[in-house]
Amino acid sequence: MATDVLKATLIVDKAFVIAEVDKRIYGSFIEHLGRAVYGGIYEPGHATADALGFRGDVKALVQELQVPIIRYPGGNFVSGYNWEDGVGPLESRPRRLELAWRTVEPNEVGTNEFAQWAKEVGSEVMMAVNLGTRGVDAARNLLEYCNHPGGSYWSDLRRSHGVEQPHKFKTWCLGNEMDGPWQIGQKTAAEYGRLAYETGKAMRLVDPDIELVSCGSSSSAMPTFPEWEAVTLEHTYDVADYVSLHQYYGNRDNDSANFLARSMDLEHFIKTVTATCDYIKAKKRSKKKMYLSFDEWNVWYHSNDADTKIEPWSVGPPQLEDHYNFEDALLVGSMLITFIRHADRVKMACLAQLVNVIAPIMTEAGGAAWKQTIFYPYMHASVYGRGVSLQPVVNSPKYDAQDYTDVPYLDSAIVYNEEAGELTIFAVNRNLEEGLQLSCDVRGFTGYSLLEHIVLQHDDLKAVNSARGEQVKPRLLDATACKDGYVETLLPKASWNVIRLKK
Ligand code: AHR
Repeated sequence: MATDVLKATLIVDKAFVIAEVDKRIYGSFIEHLGRAVYGGIYEPGHATADALGFRGDVKALVQELQVPIIRYPGGNFVSGYNWEDGVGPLESRPRRLELAWRTVEPNEVGTNEFAQWAKEVGSEVMMAVNLGTRGVDAARNLLEYCNHPGGSYWSDLRRSHGVEQPHKFKTWCLGNEMDGPWQIGQKTAAEYGRLAYETGKAMRLVDPDIELVSCGSSSSAMPTFPEWEAVTLEHTYDVADYVSLHQYYGNRDNDSANFLARSMDLEHFIKTVTATCDYIKAKKRSKKKMYLSFDEWNVWYHSNDADTKIEPWSVGPPQLEDHYNFEDALLVGSMLITFIRHADRVKMACLAQLVNVIAPIMTEAGGAAWKQTIFYPYMHASVYGRGVSLQPVVNSPKYDAQDYTDVPYLDSAIVYNEEAGELTIFAVNRNLEEGLQLSCDVRGFTGYSLLEHIVLQHDDLKAVNSARGEQVKPRLLDATACKDGYVETLLPKASWNVIRLKK
């Protein structure tokens, strides 16, 4: 007997505005970790390398992603980093034991080289300062080195290093994951709050135009979450513009239905941090709104075992090299959808990371650069997700998973770009067995017609890409139609979809 096809509806209207999407939610992250820098973006002997040693093939892939902002230089690395080691003549830069990841840091790439690379790929830099082993003094000196035009010790030092114009980095992270026992110089919430406030205060005196990110919890699973946010923000609320959130997910039990529901946890996390910020706002009788910087997020678990076998003290070992499969791409898509739906509070987000280390782009030493499965939803969101986020009114059948109840099969976000005359519907069908018949009411968009329906779909949830070829890559779905103000389509089982309408 034939079973009924699953049906969902979506109402899209110009009036249902959430907020303008800050393009920086499509940011990413490069840390001095594993082969992200050495053997990733930087490989002087590579056939495509430029004069500074940066790989041209990697630059081209980063440009394809249109990454608006890249966090640098860490991550855990920053908490032991002496930024002065990475500037000035190459021959006098020290090789250091790097304690966060137990490698050797040759300091061949530092602030100026990274700034040059970022400029070439079209990205802003989000800098992080060391509040682990260092503090106010190193942070204000680094800022003076980077952003002050000249006529002072640190700015003139930069000029003597051949960088005449200041970098004018706008966004600065006050440390990294300072609640984590793994962090060099871990702090209690009160210790961190005081230090971050004093550091931010001094930094603003150097350059009042900067924006500051106060460290939130390392993840929502930390025992101190959300108390950490409440206590630290009591100190930093007046000086900071954002609080950071970090979250990684895995499918360790191989329960894919549960794994794909993890974005519901992400949503809950965002709501809890938002509520905590607003609680502190109320407590302080403040008029200021604190925004969220989700400056580390991704799937991360495939490489955990392999990492325990890596010998310490080498340059650029293959750490955190997750080989992403198709279901990972679906969750990454849902995480991006969640950020778009929270565009009113989440103003920055960095896919952690960008090259080789839990990354959408991989490289082979002396060989090819290639795209992991997660490259595609990230690229689609970044390229087509610029405009205003509209609240999708969804009616979808639901399922219960191990950790979540009432999980809608349809996960979606809408971005309307009035200037370009484009409307984009991002949708994940979480159903692993069946297609989902979708009817989208777009009657409010007179004169719009279907441009294309891009789909990322594979029958094997564990399918992966490699340097030798892509099993998982997008294709166009021909059967979708837009007629009389309705888009009608069948979202394939377990699929990422980008439905684009154009005026
Ligand atoms: O992105 C990898 C690591 O994850 C970062 O260094 C750290 O901040 C987080 O724990």
